[in-house]
Amino acid sequence: MKGRVEIIIGAQWGDEGKGRVVDSLGSKVDIFARYQGGANAGHTVIVEGKKYVFHLLPSGMLYPCKTCVIGNGVVIDPEQLLKELKELQDQGKDRARLVISAAAHVVMPYHKLLDKAQESLRGKGRQIGTTGRGIGPAYVDKYSRCGIRVGDLLDSDVLREKLEVNLEEKNLYLTKIYGEEPLPFHEMFALAGSWGKALAPYVDDASRIIDDALKEGRGVLFEGAQGTLLDVDHGTYPYVTSSSPVAAGGCVGLGVGPALVDRVIGVVKAYCTRVGEGPFPTEDSGSGGERLREKGAEFGATTGRPRRCGWLDLVALRYAVRVNGISSIALTKLDVLSGIERIPICTVYDIEGETEEHFPCALQRLEKATPYYEHLEGWQKDISSCKEYHDLPVQARKYVEYIEAATGVPVNLIGVGPGRDQTILRNF
Ligand code: IMP
Repeated sequence: MKGRVEIIIGAQWGDEGKGRVVDSLGSKVDIFARYQGGANAGHTVIVEGKKYVFHLLPSGMLYPCKTCVIGNGVVIDPEQLLKELKELQDQGKDRARLVISAAAHVVMPYHKLLDKAQESLRGKGRQIGTTGRGIGPAYVDKYSRCGIRVGDLLDSDVLREKLEVNLEEKNLYLTKIYGEEPLPFHEMFALAGSWGKALAPYVDDASRIIDDALKEGRGVLFEGAQGTLLDVDHGTYPYVTSSSPVAAGGCVGLGVGPALVDRVIGVVKAYCTRVGEGPFPTEDSGSGGERLREKGAEFGATTGRPRRCGWLDLVALRYAVRVNGISSIALTKLDVLSGIERIPICTVYDIEGETEEHFPCALQRLEKATPYYEHLEGWQKDISSCKEYHDLPVQARKYVEYIEAATGVPVNLIGVGPGRDQTILRNF
């Protein structure tokens, strides 16, 4: 019997709470696999009151006897990865087996320098608001076919040749265009060689390991980072990240055929947030947004930046359901809405006087979208200790069911607080 493949994706602009949903599924899963992005992500998982933030490691690292895969689609900053591994080792929590795809690309120090330099050259008003983790420049090298892959770190001849070619070009950019200091070859070569030695025990063929596990009937979970609206193809381009967080990215980024996928779980925050620049139709720049930020602790896990906050956008959510093929919704942070008298929920946009039900592809059109809100009755009760769906106040259940009716997708998991046990499961 084939093992089960499930994909967890962010249905909004990232930071939906994917880590905790992954964690809730943990006991049924044998392999946790990340497929795109890099250290721009920040997965927060709270276990036994202790908070863990992973940028590169899959959230499943906290489970003993599991396998965690970093797939070919990820761009890896070895310095950050080794730091996260060491922190886990120091706490005696590195009980999962880690596998890193030899085909994953490496984020080099020049990628990070270029990321920051490019952002500052763009200037105010034209910046993307990147995390500065070198993600865009690393993917540029991947697609222009000069990138250094994890497997290259293990072969000093290949590494030397690739690094020479890259540094020759990157040092020209750094010095002639951006006015930075050049990076010395010998220092970079020694650093990359040391990463190769440290990572060697983990490097393997990730696609084959997943395939073997599926043939043995094991469960595999693909963990998306960021979210649908930050996808390089389907997001609010150019205010996006440089990878494919959508569900299909999981197949490419891990080397697994699409026919093997059993379920796509869309993680949806009960309201919306966005970090960085770009359109956000339901943003509330007033006291409503401020309240969501404070109550929801909406500050970036990677950069610490305050997140922009606003109301649930069903136009964007229906779009996310379509482009990912979401078959199950995990609704997080419902507790943050407790105490609001009437909760706005965007059902359609108004664009230049016309009603628009569909999320516009063109940024120019999206920027003109004004949300039309229905207002659902709120609830005053603290729901953070509710264990079953029927423990929730009727208004909270109506909010959930409104989302189900608008998207045609069941809400199978509801987060009512940050802890592992503050999760209501409904046929999950
Ligand atoms: P980059 O991925 O660092 O290039 O940043 C591109 C855009 O994606 C910026 O607006 C970032 O704020 C956003 N971004 C990247 N990673 C995350 C994430 O994990 N959560 C939310 N936003 C992110």
